[in-house]
Amino acid sequence: MGTRKTFYVGTLPVLLALVLGYFRPDLTQVLSGIHSIWTDGDAGDATQTPPKGHMQKFGLHVDKEKELIVMDHFPSPEDFYRDHMRQSVPLVVRGSLKHWPAVEKWKNEDYLREKFGHEDFVVMWNNITDHRHKSAMMMSMNEFLDQYRDKHIYLDGFVSPAMSKDLTIPKFLGCDAIIKRATQFSLLFNAAWSSTFVHVDGTENMFTQITGQRQWILIPPTHGKYLHVDDFNYHRGISPVEPEAVDLIKFPNVSKVDIYNITLYEGDIIYVPEGWYHQVRTMGGPPNIAVTIFMDYISCMEKGYPVDKTQEMLTEMCIAMREATPKEITCQERMEDMPMQEFIEKYGYLNPKVLNLVHDFETADRLYNFFSTTLKSGYAMPSLGFGLSGQPVDKAKPAASHALRMGYRLFDTDPDDESEEILGTILASTPDVKREDVFIVVKVHPRNLGREKTIASVQRSLTRLKTDYIDLVLIKAPSCDGMKFKCEANDNRGTWKESWEALEELNEGGKIRSLGVSNFKMSELRRLIGFAKVPLSVVQNNFNLHNRKTKLRQFCKDNGITFMAHGLMGVLETENGTRESPLLSHKMLDLAARKYRTTPGTIMIRWALNQNVTVTPTSTNLNHIAFNKYAPQLDVGESPWAMKMLTDFFPHVN
Ligand SMILES: *[C@@H]1O[C@H](CO)[C@@H](O)[C@H](O)[C@H]1NC(C)=O
Ligand SMILES: *[C@@H]1O[C@H](CO)[C@@H](O)[C@H](O)[C@H]1NC(C)=O
Ligand SMILES: *[C@@H]1O[C@H](CO)[C@@H](O)[C@H](O)[C@H]1NC(C)=O
Ligand SMILES: *[C@@H]1O[C@H](CO)[C@@H](O)[C@H](O)[C@H]1NC(C)=O
Ligand SMILES: *[C@@H]1O[C@H](CO)[C@@H](O)[C@H](O)[C@H]1NC(C)=O
Repeated sequence: MGTRKTFYVGTLPVLLALVLGYFRPDLTQVLSGIHSIWTDGDAGDATQTPPKGHMQKFGLHVDKEKELIVMDHFPSPEDFYRDHMRQSVPLVVRGSLKHWPAVEKWKNEDYLREKFGHEDFVVMWNNITDHRHKSAMMMSMNEFLDQYRDKHIYLDGFVSPAMSKDLTIPKFLGCDAIIKRATQFSLLFNAAWSSTFVHVDGTENMFTQITGQRQWILIPPTHGKYLHVDDFNYHRGISPVEPEAVDLIKFPNVSKVDIYNITLYEGDIIYVPEGWYHQVRTMGGPPNIAVTIFMDYISCMEKGYPVDKTQEMLTEMCIAMREATPKEITCQERMEDMPMQEFIEKYGYLNPKVLNLVHDFETADRLYNFFSTTLKSGYAMPSLGFGLSGQPVDKAKPAASHALRMGYRLFDTDPDDESEEILGTILASTPDVKREDVFIVVKVHPRNLGREKTIASVQRSLTRLKTDYIDLVLIKAPSCDGMKFKCEANDNRGTWKESWEALEELNEGGKIRSLGVSNFKMSELRRLIGFAKVPLSVVQNNFNLHNRKTKLRQFCKDNGITFMAHGLMGVLETENGTRESPLLSHKMLDLAARKYRTTPGTIMIRWALNQNVTVTPTSTNLNHIAFNKYAPQLDVGESPWAMKMLTDFFPHVN
């Protein structure tokens, strides 16, 4: 699973630094603490004058600031690549994106409410008194706008497809060889109170101020070694200096650092190459809104991490990597001023890595693996997976890629839609994730009951998944009688017993590792256990907060069988064809979600995991996919009553 890090490290430094930025200790405490160091310290020599800029804002130590290249029009993509990207030279283009509809429209909160009011975004909360309780939750734009002026909250999500209508591809990036490197379009929105640590990003950053201003202080990569980053072992790429009051006695080398200083106004864009340290402060507004495009180019921090390199070694490596890239680019396709939405539709939605904001990936991995179970077959299965079935292909594809990238390793498919095909294609094109790293669940539809048909069905699944074994095969139902199973009257079906025996054969031949059944009655399960030669590993059935299946789960527990839920979110089709979940909108769940500052869906998942139930929620909303994955990390112990409330008082049938 070590390979997963390559997905994450890319923007992790950026995001973590931002987080740390908001959760910096209270400034007055820092100031008084440091003041006493200076006055009571070993500076016995009263005549000694403190270095220039000591205990002042970061950057005031220099006599003269250096100047960035500032243009009033875009260079061509070819020139930009040659003179800036490849050479690691930052660039500011003033006013160049004033024509973006966003610049004109987003300062109007009524417009934001009207157009995006009901969309969900990731919002960070500041808790100055308790760093452990920094947290993230999803909020609609309306909810955010209702409170962001009064609270230390920071929308740090990503540009939604609807919002991307108000943006276009900046001309100098409008070349396939550049823009296709984009990995994330982020939206940064607050009431102009934020200020980051001095940090470095793991990606190229194309940052546009939409409303309000931002002051950027940049430090060249070769001076990174003066920022004492190697002393700071929380995370690579973050300097321990307090940017509001730099202690130059404690961090003397900071005095050697060159400073570039620029303030961005509406419609200005800055290009910050990977490796340039920076400190950023919002000013002006509210609303203070910016949009940034992160791009992978050399990704050298990612490649140099976590090997034990000093900042100096890392910088040398990054410079060499940049020099090794082609001197020029050729654009096959130009997308200058292409509406961002059109780009996203054409090339697939980019990958928000929101979860990184909440916890580091090692914790995420550890807790994800903590919620896993050893099946009766002896194989381990994660308890939290991602369901691909029942979604339109154009949405299921980006959703499944995103889930894989987010670290989901259990995937539930359905032979009746394109989910096997989609998963197979994604896995085949993701060499970093090895086949044995993922656990794939496949089903046999009841119309294929009987030996031959079952074998053919599994064979088809193997082909569609482009794999030579399946981790778990479930017989989807013991018969076609259930209403939703579409079967032909005369399709010569066999029995579920024949199917089971066929699966046992395939198990013996190494094509299937574990066997299970779905929607079987307890009497059928007893019969099955009676004759099964290969153990029954998994029983799947409908399960959620309302429908507890207590007896069935007890039966499974007594027989060492793992219970897997379907229908966890309680989504129902309404008469007019819309899908709704009375469970998800229940006020008790809402209360718990607010308590833990997350989504109702995440709470529901965590509640099921706590009951030892394996879940594979499905979603095409990238935010929800990220948040669902966050369920194992929820600190439910913080308010045990909320979980207990759901167990004891949520209306349910046993
Ligand atoms: C940067 O520029 C701003 C605006 O011109 C100025 O107020 C500030 O002192 C400069 N230097 C630093 C380190 O902030
Ligand atoms: C911050 O954390 C403390 C301690 O856990 C808690 O009492 C307080 O309510 C939290 N504040 C906010 C704004 O969440
Ligand atoms: C300051 O930098 C010099 C080299 O540039 C290095 O030898 C020294 O250890 C650094 N000091 C600290 C406190 O990091
Ligand atoms: C569909 O029906 C549900 C109730 O069954 C109702 O709440 C919802 O507003 C309806 N949606 C539309 C688009 O008519
Ligand atoms: C879940 O499984 C663990 C380990 O087998 C057990 O200790 C715990 O009691 C189970 N919880 C429930 C709610 O069944």
